[in-house]
Amino acid sequence: MKKYNIGYTQGTFDLFHVGHLNLLENAKKYCDKLIVGVNSDELVLQYKNKKVNITAKDRARIIKALKCVDEVYIVNTLDKSQILEKIDFDVILVGDDWKGNQRWENTKTEMNKKGKDVIFLPYTKGISTTKLAAQIKSGEQNER
Ligand code: CTP
Repeated sequence: MKKYNIGYTQGTFDLFHVGHLNLLENAKKYCDKLIVGVNSDELVLQYKNKKVNITAKDRARIIKALKCVDEVYIVNTLDKSQILEKIDFDVILVGDDWKGNQRWENTKTEMNKKGKDVIFLPYTKGISTTKLAAQIKSGEQNER
């Protein structure tokens, strides 16, 4: 028996890489069903002030094809209370690069009040979409 029934995680997952895979495989260890929210292109532009390399539709297809993922939605908000109105979950799982971040600390307090847990999972060091994009541009190889 896993600790939770339904787990939720959300991210951009642009230029899908092994840090994303580790996060999703790890998240699935905590729940029977893993639901992934993929940030829409507009949402990424709003909050990261960045254009994505891969469209939300394609990013969602890639995530959906993973063995550890059960359901995928393209989402337009970072507000987890709004998400919870549409998608029922017991726990949110996210990389621990967000630990200590004010928005995530507020989310944790808000979710705990609603009886939902927030778990920070180990971030994979040495790789990120930003780093990969820079390496592709410069012709370097990832040294992780
Ligand atoms: N993540 C991780 N390890 C990495 C990169 C990401 O565990 N090396 C996790 C994040 O903590 C988040 C999820 O994967 O829970 C999606 O992260 P996302 O922001 O889409 O990926 P990044 O590679 O961090 O993108 P960017 O460089 O644009 O910030």
